[in-house]
Amino acid sequence: MTEYTLIFKGTAFSSKSPSKVQILKDYLFFINADGMIEKTAAPEHADYQNLLTTYQHQEIFHQLADGQYFLPGFVDLHVHAPQWAQAGTALDIPLYDWLNTYTFPIESKFSDLEFAQEVYEDLVSTLLANGTTTSLYFATVHKEASLLLAKICAEKGQRGLVGKVVMDDPEQNPDYYRDANTQTALKDTEEFIVAVKELAKSTKQGVYPVVTPRFIPSCTDGALKGLGELAAKYDTHIQSHCSESDWEHGYVKERFKKNDAFALHDFGLLGDKSVMAHCNFLDDDDAQLFAETGTAIGHCPISNAYFANSVIPIARFHAKGVDIGLGSDISGGFSPSLFDNARQAVMSSRMLEDGVDTSIPAEKRGVPNSRITINEAFYLATAGGGESLSLPIGRLQENYTWDVQIIDTNIPSAKLPIFDHKEDLQDIFPKIMYLVRPENIREVWVQGNKVHARA
Ligand code: GUN
Ligand code: FE
Repeated sequence: MTEYTLIFKGTAFSSKSPSKVQILKDYLFFINADGMIEKTAAPEHADYQNLLTTYQHQEIFHQLADGQYFLPGFVDLHVHAPQWAQAGTALDIPLYDWLNTYTFPIESKFSDLEFAQEVYEDLVSTLLANGTTTSLYFATVHKEASLLLAKICAEKGQRGLVGKVVMDDPEQNPDYYRDANTQTALKDTEEFIVAVKELAKSTKQGVYPVVTPRFIPSCTDGALKGLGELAAKYDTHIQSHCSESDWEHGYVKERFKKNDAFALHDFGLLGDKSVMAHCNFLDDDDAQLFAETGTAIGHCPISNAYFANSVIPIARFHAKGVDIGLGSDISGGFSPSLFDNARQAVMSSRMLEDGVDTSIPAEKRGVPNSRITINEAFYLATAGGGESLSLPIGRLQENYTWDVQIIDTNIPSAKLPIFDHKEDLQDIFPKIMYLVRPENIREVWVQGNKVHARA
């Protein structure tokens, strides 16, 4: 008989496809010693009763109470960890000014490891409490502080993919906050990659080094080329910002006479393990290149409402076969919650479709077929994030990790409006997606380890 380390019984929601959510009513989930879902059993399963009888009185058996549900843990594809210290501030100025006036000064403070520790511990705990089990992080230019973030993820049990940020161009970055030169930027990145790979060996959930040119404007050609080579040498993930705003998109066009996507591709920075944040200004050729290379979009709907000067046609890119997941973009986006970002993703898409020019008849306003549903937003936050990272995460099915959030709809201070005990699960799912607050997230598990429990 197979040895299981954990067995759970309860109702779960998991994406079957971008538009379809599968309801796994009263399922059994069998978790192995590696924290993977080894087997699932539906009540229709011939062995279900036998399995229940065998296991239900064992210590490893956990059954959800009434009103509790499993969701896959969320995958946040874009977090600036140091910016947690300024979340919510200064969102009323343009991106370029925001970076120079607020963001670079605060990021420069992470040379101080004590400060870094305080902010990073609080952030990782906050993300876990919000149901985010995997995060793709930008740290800062500092090698040591970036490694500290990876260690904190390792200790707290979050699956952290962490990048030491590269900004080496002395013409484009302030002297108080940049890599000393191209050579040290690449050397620090290589040492960082090796150190995180070593650290990963002591974790169950994995931590991963990520090659991270901040964005093209902050990097010299030499750094971009060297980073592409390092990513290939160590087979790492890659992240950057791509075609985010008028200003940034225009800057790259002027420098390379081509769009961001093609410039990044020339430096070896696109591929199956690449995630590019924002991507508001991708044209059809760029999107095609993303689809062909397996490059994913980290869609940051709250941040985009502030800095993008546009609304991203997310449905259009999805239809072209581009992998897409969701990002909070802390602190371009103010919320650490992917529930909040999923809600905004739906609302932004509706605004793009419905338009604003009231001089045009309603049926002719906006961009047709732009809307996405809450099911699709859930997909972006879970399975889409997993596919973007090429990791077996974001779905509650066999051979995926046991990364879950246990949602309690019955918390007295945050009770969801479910009045009918027999209410259709099809209707309970959107209530969860639209109304859950952090209080409703009772427990969070990553790779079979409990990493958060509500006090
Ligand atoms: N582009 C370069 N750096 C940043 C950043 O920190 N936030 C956002 N939103 N865009 C960027
Ligand atoms: Fe960003």
